[in-house]
Amino acid sequence: MAATGLEARRAALEMLHAVLWDKRMLSQITPHDGLSPADAARAGRLAGDVLRHIGRLDAVLRPYVSRQPRMNVQNILRLGAAELLVAGGDAHGVVNAAVAIAKRHPGTTKASGMVNAVLRRVAEQGAEAWAATPPQRLPVWLRKPLHKAYGTQILDAIEAAHERGAPLDLTTKPGFEIAEADVLPTGTLRLPRGQQVSALPGYDTGDWWVQDAAAALPVRLLGDVAGKRVLDMCAAPGGKTMQLASLGANVTALDLSKGRLARVEENLARTELEAELVAEDALTYTAAPFDAILLDAPCSATGTIRRHPDLPFVKSTEEVEALTKLQMQMIDAALRLLAPGGRLVFCTCSLLPVEGEFQVKAALKRHENLKVVPIDPTALGGDAEWASPEGGLRLRPDHWADRGGIDGFYMACLQMT
Ligand SMILES: C[S@@+](CC[C@H](N)C(=O)[O-])C[C@H]1O[C@@H](n2cnc3c(N)ncnc32)[C@H](O)[C@@H]1O
Repeated sequence: MAATGLEARRAALEMLHAVLWDKRMLSQITPHDGLSPADAARAGRLAGDVLRHIGRLDAVLRPYVSRQPRMNVQNILRLGAAELLVAGGDAHGVVNAAVAIAKRHPGTTKASGMVNAVLRRVAEQGAEAWAATPPQRLPVWLRKPLHKAYGTQILDAIEAAHERGAPLDLTTKPGFEIAEADVLPTGTLRLPRGQQVSALPGYDTGDWWVQDAAAALPVRLLGDVAGKRVLDMCAAPGGKTMQLASLGANVTALDLSKGRLARVEENLARTELEAELVAEDALTYTAAPFDAILLDAPCSATGTIRRHPDLPFVKSTEEVEALTKLQMQMIDAALRLLAPGGRLVFCTCSLLPVEGEFQVKAALKRHENLKVVPIDPTALGGDAEWASPEGGLRLRPDHWADRGGIDGFYMACLQMT
């Protein structure tokens, strides 16, 4: 019998190669022509499953292979094992498909017998080994600084949270509800993952937008923004712009990227919200002083690994170094645009203190009139343990584990005295 679902699996293998070999993010990979939207979505899910558990999959496969196969063969094995152990796929179908794929490509044909034998054994015996294998470890470039910052126990919890993935979080316009969604203490609506977003109530009427519960907090640190002139300094794709606009702020949404600013425009159109859009470099932008500024700076995005399991394999220490320099310059640029007494909220979706706590401490040293406005996380619906010593908030994916977790984020509210 011919194996089915080969196109999605082949596309998933291409994606894995692009991430692990070419160091490209899944979001930058366009599915090849002719792949149906359903197959493209399935390919993305399969590639995501492999990347989220790759270390654990390799550990389960290891006893069954006599020597390390080449990467393209190993990826076929990883994909098959993920389908069996993560997605609970039918053993016969999964093994057949993996063998058919191996046979199709000249570089892997010879290994098809081995693929067959190994995956059969994984189907028969793998579940026990899978359950006994600890969560996947992050690559060294990221693991090392996180271990230094948080220690072994917290890092283990962060890695376990990465494997669990993330639910679907929505920020709503004031007062909107969805009956089947949980309401988190911070106000975010939460649904299990795997939803078809455009089919949910309120999508067509633009009553909400997708935004992790952690990402919804920085805007709230600005206080009451109604009627105020607010600069969203790195705005695209516009999650925080929409939040600010829905709370009645007069928003200027600035972003360097015209392409990404087009997404802000689309999002504002869908939600029927308004903001002035400016495509400029935040470092050289000039304007009359703003009452409040939100600086959601470009960062490593290491707080979002639950949603982007490809990220640890693509980003690097060098990239983080360049970003921390840019973040520092952006804080200074933001302070030049801030009206006296106004608030600047600096935030990053990073787990690395160099992109969070360190930036605030360094800014306080550069600007003697700068102070941190203390935040009580419990007043926002958060936990007291989110407060960090310099006055900001440190959120990690292992927080709120019983509620489904939360993205890693850092945020602090600054003011010139
Ligand atoms: C973390 S994302 C912002 C996410 C956004 N605030 C939201 O909530 O949807 C960072 C943004 O900074 C923009 N950016 C990077 N360098 C910039 C610069 N020099 N000036 C302005 N924007 C910049 C990127 O194009 C990217 O859209």
